Amino acid sequence: MKIRIPENIATITPYPPGKPLDELEREYGITDSIKLASNENPWGPSPKVIRALRAELSQLHRYPDGSCYYLVQALAEKLGIAPGEIVMGNGSNEIIEFLVKAFVQEGDEVITSHPSFLMYQKIVQVRGGINHVVPLLDMRHDLAGIKKLVSEKTRLLFIDNPNNPTGTAIPPVELYRFLSDFPESVIVVLDEAYVDFMDKKLQVDFYSLIRNVEGRCPVVFLRTFSKAYGLSGLRVGYGMMAREIAECLHKVRQPFNINQMAQVGALAALEDEEYYQLTLDRTAKARAYLSREVDKLGCTSYPTETNFFLIDVQGNADKLYQAMLYKGVIVRSMSAYGFTNFIRVTFGTEEENKRFVKSLADCLGELGYV
Ligand SMILES: Cc1ncc(COP(=O)(O)O)c(C=O)c1O
Repeated sequence: MKIRIPENIATITPYPPGKPLDELEREYGITDSIKLASNENPWGPSPKVIRALRAELSQLHRYPDGSCYYLVQALAEKLGIAPGEIVMGNGSNEIIEFLVKAFVQEGDEVITSHPSFLMYQKIVQVRGGINHVVPLLDMRHDLAGIKKLVSEKTRLLFIDNPNNPTGTAIPPVELYRFLSDFPESVIVVLDEAYVDFMDKKLQVDFYSLIRNVEGRCPVVFLRTFSKAYGLSGLRVGYGMMAREIAECLHKVRQPFNINQMAQVGALAALEDEEYYQLTLDRTAKARAYLSREVDKLGCTSYPTETNFFLIDVQGNADKLYQAMLYKGVIVRSMSAYGFTNFIRVTFGTEEENKRFVKSLADCLGELGYV
């Protein structure tokens, strides 16, 4: 082919696609596998969401509501902010893309941490922006290190709070201190994909930060229905931000970026507070059980504010990942992130967690790790 592939595109490593579960089972000769690799909600969506989606099926010949009117109204009311301060995305992933599209031009700089959510850097690279990457310090965002990298060309800073993959959150006092003298020309994006699972004491006051009541740098919050609400497959997330920023994001989005099922499903999920609370309770229980059991096996589990955790398996993580795969338990090896002895495990249902612990114990024994 004679096409010229731009350098910034040629050097991108595509997001590892992952095979459908059925294909993986066929390849490895396994059945009944369990997937604890993508930080999804293992209990699935609320039954009320499923009912709402069924009822909406007959309307699929219509374009969706491009303004997400009802969903945005419901979110605004719940969050205590104005509809004009909310932008909906096809997953919170899409809001990341809008921010980069709207504010980053070729040669502009963006700061992220490593490891953190992989999409930030990729989207910046597609846009021809320059990524400045600050390694985590003791599994946490290195706020002092981040500050040192700010230059006149910095447009955005992405902080996932809690961080993926470590599960750590920044204590609010530290975060407020950090933001208090951060340059006003940089938009700070606090990605709160896992905020629902976080200790309430660690959650920050998004209202005053987006309204910028203390005259600090602009802050954008990202949220998603993919985790606590169990709607990863529908793709719906949102950002909270000052109106001025929201207006810019609306300019770069497609008119119908949130499909109708996603709008209806997310609205039903939002309304079912009981089911949401049940998910949080189940997650807390799973966290306590898994941390205890994993530590009993001689591994080290790390404290987490999310629905997943990191485990130091005291041996090569890739080998352990493979061994567990043959037992039908899919976790994530962290070796690609530079954590060669770590796996990341999403909390499953009670039954899945028991099976995970048993498989981990067997594999650790077979590999002679502990
Ligand atoms: C930190 C973080 N941000 C954003 C996302 C993307 O979420 P969504 O499904 O809303 O695009 C993820 C998904 O795993 C994540 O871990």
